[in-house]
Amino acid sequence: MGLFASDTVAIDVGSYSVKGVVVGSNKELKKFAAVPTPAGAIEGGVIRNPEQVTGAIQTVWQTLGVKDPHVIATVPGQHVFVRQISLPAMKKKELDSAVRFQAEGQIPIPPTDLILDYAVVGENKEGKQTEVLVVATRKSIVQQLIYLFNQAKLQPKVFDLEALALARILFKKNRKSAAGSLDLIASVGAAHTHICMFEGDVPRFTRTISFGGQRFTRALVMERSIDPEEAEERKLAGELPDEANSLMGDLASELKRSIDFYQSQNKEHSVQQVVLAGGGAQLSKLIDYLESRLELPVALGSLDDKLKIPKRLAAPANMEAFKTVFAPVLGLAVRGLK
Ligand SMILES: Nc1ncnc2c1ncn2[C@@H]1O[C@H](COP(=O)(O)OP(=O)(O)OP(=O)(O)O)[C@@H](O)[C@H]1O
Ligand SMILES: [Mg+2]
Repeated sequence: MGLFASDTVAIDVGSYSVKGVVVGSNKELKKFAAVPTPAGAIEGGVIRNPEQVTGAIQTVWQTLGVKDPHVIATVPGQHVFVRQISLPAMKKKELDSAVRFQAEGQIPIPPTDLILDYAVVGENKEGKQTEVLVVATRKSIVQQLIYLFNQAKLQPKVFDLEALALARILFKKNRKSAAGSLDLIASVGAAHTHICMFEGDVPRFTRTISFGGQRFTRALVMERSIDPEEAEERKLAGELPDEANSLMGDLASELKRSIDFYQSQNKEHSVQQVVLAGGGAQLSKLIDYLESRLELPVALGSLDDKLKIPKRLAAPANMEAFKTVFAPVLGLAVRGLK
């Protein structure tokens, strides 16, 4: 197996594990690796132990066996805000400061820490209002991520948004979606669930909630009086806490709340399906539970359309697990590949 300059290396730093992949220019997966993030090193989206996180990044990179230190990385969903705002029609020059002003009021990031980008996505019939899609994140988070990668002797060449990475890998090629019909992706990690709604390939709304697989492990610890390691093992083997339905209910309610909030502002839009990714999406019975609560089709995202997985790599005992856990990082890696 050769690793060429045209290969893309992507790394996703999560609170449960750091994942890395190498993808060739023909969209063939060449290598993948995941290394556990030491417990407590990232908590509530905050990097508490930079040395440990740097160590995990370095181990992933070494396991991938690449030489090129340039990697694509992600800004975790909880630090990214996507909002659609409506402004009176105005000249491009004025729009920049009007968008910033409006965004500062709607996005919970202090103005001095706010980085944003925006795109005009529409105008109302009379051309009096302009619809703008704003994507914002924290400067301090991006700087901290750059620092961590640099400490690991790597150079992030691009920071991409988790939501865009997910859509890129999970949505089928040339899928047709009618105007106003939305696909919702919920990426269920250990500590967070990143919710994003797309109209076609355009993100319309994102929100991150503090819900993740960790809650089920904690519930097992409490209910069975066992240590977290044993609880995690049991959970991975399919055991659910007695509280599972109530925990899944919290996720269903939050998803519903996001859908209702979005639809209250965009009455003609409706969600047609829910696609799940992230390690937490593998919890047994989660899909059935969400389907019955949301009354929508719910499925694990499939990447088959977007990525070639050669036979020698298609061996992991549980390919479904691989695909859900690696979906965000694979979405980063296929960036720019046709
Ligand atoms: N087979 C499985 N069954 C149930 N849960 C699983 C399974 N495999 C992984 N998980 C859970 O998925 C979660 C980790 O998912 P993932 O790797 O997507 O998180 P992360 O990206 O590191 O975290 P975050 O994005 O929240 O920082 C953990 O809570 C883990 O217990
Ligand atoms: Mg994650």
